Amino acid sequence: MDRLPIVVANWKMNKTIRESVDYLHKFLPLVEGSRPAWFAIPFTALQAAKAEVGDKLILGAQNMNDASAGAFTGEIAASMLKEAGASFVILGHSERRRYFNETNECIHNKVMRAQETGLTAIVCVGESYEEREQGSTRAVLEKQLTECLKGISSFDVCMIAYEPVWAIGSGISATQEMIMEAHAMIRDIMATMTSKETIATLNILYGGSVTPASACQLANVEGIDGFLVGTASLDPETFAKIVLLQPQ
Ligand code: PGA
Repeated sequence: MDRLPIVVANWKMNKTIRESVDYLHKFLPLVEGSRPAWFAIPFTALQAAKAEVGDKLILGAQNMNDASAGAFTGEIAASMLKEAGASFVILGHSERRRYFNETNECIHNKVMRAQETGLTAIVCVGESYEEREQGSTRAVLEKQLTECLKGISSFDVCMIAYEPVWAIGSGISATQEMIMEAHAMIRDIMATMTSKETIATLNILYGGSVTPASACQLANVEGIDGFLVGTASLDPETFAKIVLLQPQ
């Protein structure tokens, strides 16, 4: 990587409004002067977080509905997120696929809506342990990418996060070789869907048990453009080390 990695925190269902603001208040001075980190935070904290950080950080959400508005009790629309301060949204995280039955088709509809609303979509893909063992990683990625991203005209506002399901929250990161191989597969698959120029500028992040040490190790690896960080993003000091690329 000839530029600094894009570092995205995924807080999942953690932190109240007050806890979010306290965290950001602690975090900002730790990374002063650095490029803005990205934070996918709970919906409820977006507005207060935006008031706290302004343009110093890039705020986003972890999910949204694909409809623009309407009778969908308990759901949230892209326009609501945008007005609350989000500039991006994570879509198709494996926890949403697994616990909330999200399909590639549903993720595709969400990607389209995010693009229409002007939210950058971070689209998650990745194989399970069994799929890797069976040698079907490429087939899984191919199906997820082609179905989630079909008909997408602009990849300026889209990033891909490669997150092998077995590496998420397990403390077991994929190895550098595995990540390089999967990212190369993703570029190869994307080559059938978009131009060479677009692929050259497409950002592919890695996620799955990223720590300050592993981020430092992976930061210079060709083809890894950044990280999606769950557990290690929950503590401001640990996450600041990832942003600043300090191994400990
Ligand atoms: P983890 O989560 O860093 O805790 O593995 C990553 C993710 O789910 O995005």
